[in-house]
Amino acid sequence: MELILIGFMGSGKTTVSQLLGQKYHLPVLDLDDEIVAQTGQSIPEIFAAGGEAHFRAIEHQVLAQVIDQPGILATGGGTPLREDNRALLKASHVPVVHLRATAAETKRRIGHDQNRPLAAKLDQTGLAKLKAARHAAYQACADFTIETNQLTPLEVAQAIEARL
Ligand code: S3P
Repeated sequence: MELILIGFMGSGKTTVSQLLGQKYHLPVLDLDDEIVAQTGQSIPEIFAAGGEAHFRAIEHQVLAQVIDQPGILATGGGTPLREDNRALLKASHVPVVHLRATAAETKRRIGHDQNRPLAAKLDQTGLAKLKAARHAAYQACADFTIETNQLTPLEVAQAIEARL
């Protein structure tokens, strides 16, 4: 990979990775899409079949497979939670960018998205708690953080470019 985006659900990882991929003619890989392609199941189906632990095990396997491929990687919101995943991100020696938004903005962006099993039932307070619980994991592997609240995806992409 040339660049890795991490951050909570709704932080813009997928959209921003696509913008940067188009601009620099780099392949873009979305870890969730890759998981769906490899398993033939949707994210909610994987959670329904074996819960979060099952999803995390698949996520780890797929991350290990793709980390050395060329391009820009949009991770899933929970990818940095596992220590072994954080180690893979670090060992890739490419910039790891943490995209961040407030809980209110996150709620506005993702609503009750049924395609995100961990967020579907959470209100803004629940999202804020989950985000806070994950903060240290994001910080542990990020080279830098972009606050995306007031920014369009294009502006986020520009903010990343300015820091690289
Ligand atoms: C998850 C985030 C999702 C997806 C899965 C779990 C999480 O990815 O990997 O639903 O634990 O935050 P996005 O961040 O792309 O929504």
